[in-house]
Amino acid sequence: MKITVIGTGYVGLVTGVSLSEIGHDVTCIDIDERKVEQMRKGLSPIFEPGLEDMMKRNIGRHRLAFETSYEKGLAEADVIFIAVGTPQKEDGHANLTYIENVAERIAEHICKDAIVVTKSTVPVGTNDRISEVIHSRLKADVNISIASNPEFLREGSAIHDTFHGDRIVIGAEDRQTRETLDRVFAPLAIPVYHTDIRSAEMIKYASNAFLAAKISFINEISHICEKVGADVESVAHGMGLDKRIGNQFLRAGIGYGGSCFPKDTNALVQIAGHVEHDFELLKSVIKVNNNQQSMLVDKVLNRLGGVTGKTIALLGLSFKPNTDDMRDAPSIVIADRLAALDARMTAYDPIASFRASGLLPAEVSYRESIEEAVRGADAVLILTDWEQIKHFPLEAYKELMETPVIFDGRNCHSLEEAEQAGVEYISIGRRAVVPQTDSVT
Ligand code: UGA
Repeated sequence: MKITVIGTGYVGLVTGVSLSEIGHDVTCIDIDERKVEQMRKGLSPIFEPGLEDMMKRNIGRHRLAFETSYEKGLAEADVIFIAVGTPQKEDGHANLTYIENVAERIAEHICKDAIVVTKSTVPVGTNDRISEVIHSRLKADVNISIASNPEFLREGSAIHDTFHGDRIVIGAEDRQTRETLDRVFAPLAIPVYHTDIRSAEMIKYASNAFLAAKISFINEISHICEKVGADVESVAHGMGLDKRIGNQFLRAGIGYGGSCFPKDTNALVQIAGHVEHDFELLKSVIKVNNNQQSMLVDKVLNRLGGVTGKTIALLGLSFKPNTDDMRDAPSIVIADRLAALDARMTAYDPIASFRASGLLPAEVSYRESIEEAVRGADAVLILTDWEQIKHFPLEAYKELMETPVIFDGRNCHSLEEAEQAGVEYISIGRRAVVPQTDSVT
């Protein structure tokens, strides 16, 4: 089938590349000429494991092309995916300007029957609006049907999630559209759930809000665990054994970040507000998360007294591992607060330092390795659970720091490891480990 994907952010690019991998002829449209030039050479503008290889392979097979022109990019399309951004506006609403512009361009340039599918996360009712814009401006005498196909990919494992997803949701109002889209996704052999367009739009927000709620819930439990002497890791494990609860998204830490949960939870509160529903539960989820992000700094202050003139090593800056995405990363809130308290900071991230340097305060200086960031620091803060940070031996901190104090915002190490290593180790929702010698003196 001939498929066109509009927008080559991480959703659009991963969608386009994956659809070419399963045998479709895909053209990706983006207005950014430089980016399109790079992509034509098989260079991915985002860091996503496995993506670049797949891109190169399908460009080589002549199944994947990149275009800046709508006219050329839409000329032969049977199915058009809209995957442009819906960034958050100041007031929490999703900004739909890009989506509406794309709908106008489709109406101007489409010249054959096609299905227009929205992949971008959009408030309920947006597909109706897209349909209105397209149908009111259509130049050619063609049939256009509209569908919603929300994506459930996680950054850093987007290719894996595309090929091993739990479900594909298709919101459509007629049988032919549903059947055509079934054919598009058939090679993936993932269960397809059919529903109406508005429910499909809602499934996306409700899913992200629910996952965010799980994270805030376990983070709240972690505070209580610390006070009553329970261990949040054991509690989460014991809860997760119940299939009704499930063991995923129950990792306590410094809160969720990224381009999706913060934006989508805020947008859903707004959507609810518009229909006079006060979504109290979700508001609490957001509030808990905001507090959680800087809670690690409170722990530092409790332990060190103050941080003025002290050097704090930040390990991991991206909002999660396997990505250089810094959007709403907890490291931003943490570094800002430490800078306001007159701390000096060194930082190491395997790939996000460049992006981080435009966002973190000037007090942060960047290092090429964990050792360089940690050497001589007064405290270490683990902010992202990158494999190399998780596997960095705790004993090594003793050689690099005069008094090794590690604040682990991602519970990367077991308490036994910390005890054996003889370092002071303060994590989330678990007892603090204090080395024997310290407790004696
Ligand atoms: C999230 C959803 O997981 C995807 O299903 C969805 O498609 C995507 O948003 C989207 O709307 O586009 P993503 O933001 O890439 O994906 O990342 P996640 O892996 O979900 O992690 C989000 C944040 O939650 C990270 O900061 C992570 O560290 C944090 N997290 C996750 C926890 O603190 N605890 C957990 O147990 C799980």
